[in-house]
Amino acid sequence: MRILVTGGAGFVGSNLALKLKRERADLAICAFDNLRRRGSELAVTRLRDGGVDFVHGDVRSTDDLADAGAFDLLLECSAEPSVNAGYDGSPAYVIQTNLLGTVHCLEAARRHHADVILFSTSRVYPIERLRALPLEPRGRRLELPDHAEGPGWSARGIARDFPLAGHRSMYGATKLASELLVEEYRAMYSLRAIINRCGVISGPWQMGKVDQGFVVLWASQHLFGESLSYTGFGGKGLQVRDVLHIDDLCNLVRRQMEDLGRYDGAVYNVGGGRERSVSLAELSGLCCERAGRSIPISCDPRTTAADVPYYVADNSHVTSETGWSPRRELGDLLDDVFRWLRDHRGTLEPLMTARTPAHLPPTPVTTAP
Ligand SMILES: NC(=O)c1ccc[n+]([C@@H]2O[C@H](COP(=O)([O-])OP(=O)(O)OC[C@H]3O[C@@H](n4cnc5c(N)ncnc54)[C@H](O)[C@@H]3O)[C@@H](O)[C@H]2O)c1
Repeated sequence: MRILVTGGAGFVGSNLALKLKRERADLAICAFDNLRRRGSELAVTRLRDGGVDFVHGDVRSTDDLADAGAFDLLLECSAEPSVNAGYDGSPAYVIQTNLLGTVHCLEAARRHHADVILFSTSRVYPIERLRALPLEPRGRRLELPDHAEGPGWSARGIARDFPLAGHRSMYGATKLASELLVEEYRAMYSLRAIINRCGVISGPWQMGKVDQGFVVLWASQHLFGESLSYTGFGGKGLQVRDVLHIDDLCNLVRRQMEDLGRYDGAVYNVGGGRERSVSLAELSGLCCERAGRSIPISCDPRTTAADVPYYVADNSHVTSETGWSPRRELGDLLDDVFRWLRDHRGTLEPLMTARTPAHLPPTPVTTAP
């Protein structure tokens, strides 16, 4: 079996490729990536050392995808993954990569009669709908009332059938459009596919930056940096996300790919769930403990266009259908991230701090998946 992992030098793609290869030496795995994400270049040696082939290519190019050769399973992890993409200028890159790129990937899968697992996002859900949830401040976080529920949500979090009408950012729209195309490829060409709508995922080798990967951004700035900022929703850091350990996601994907016929056509909300949710203010405390120091955190009450105050995945559906549920606790995840940052400090510190030099004002942060 040959697996093509597009975006294979990124956080999710490289972790998936390496873990699958470690667990199943018989698999031939090819990571395909244009190395656009800063820090993805670090994955190339890791992948090759781990027995994964690397092809430098771009999903916007059908020729590049053809050069990657035939495959039996596509793990589509390539993306411009920032919810802020396009707000400050042209949306061309996010559309061409996340939508046209998916079309090219689906076409390649059709030609090779391959199966597909698409990594979509909780950002398919509309911004205004998520902002309208009846959140209440509880300690250092926002929470949903314990017994309240509404269409597609409850105290467990956001379920797959949360209403989809409304705008959602160019990132979210390109992902939702990709999901629709997957459905058409299934119907027209009998392509087998699974869609995982993921919330925040984190763990070692995530190149956390201001607009994506906030857990690693928070940890790295506590360890190496100068300052951070609570941005949006009053600037108190009360906004909440659930966080899924990358190893838990890998375990789900392994389960799905080994029984693809059974899960064909599924669309799952996948995340850490309420037990693994954290606010920025709470995360600061957890990072302080692990870094052994605190850093100044300023407050900017202005909310960026695509930010939402709360997202927690309701995993009930994926758990009932697959038996999977997250196992790694948030504390374990942070311990893993801090260990990785310390072990690779020489390489990671310049990468993680270049955006927050001491002479610049603190960077705003978006708690975007
Ligand atoms: N990490 C999260 O919290 C999260 C949450 C929800 C969904 N997702 C989805 O999971 C997938 C993987 O995300 P990630 O966190 O690994 O992001 P990432 O940025 O670490 O990885 C994406 C990779 O795609 C590559 N890439 C970008 N444009 C490309 C192009 N045109 N051609 C080929 N490669 C290209 C980048 O260089 C990068 O290595 C994405 O589809 C993302 O939308 C991630």
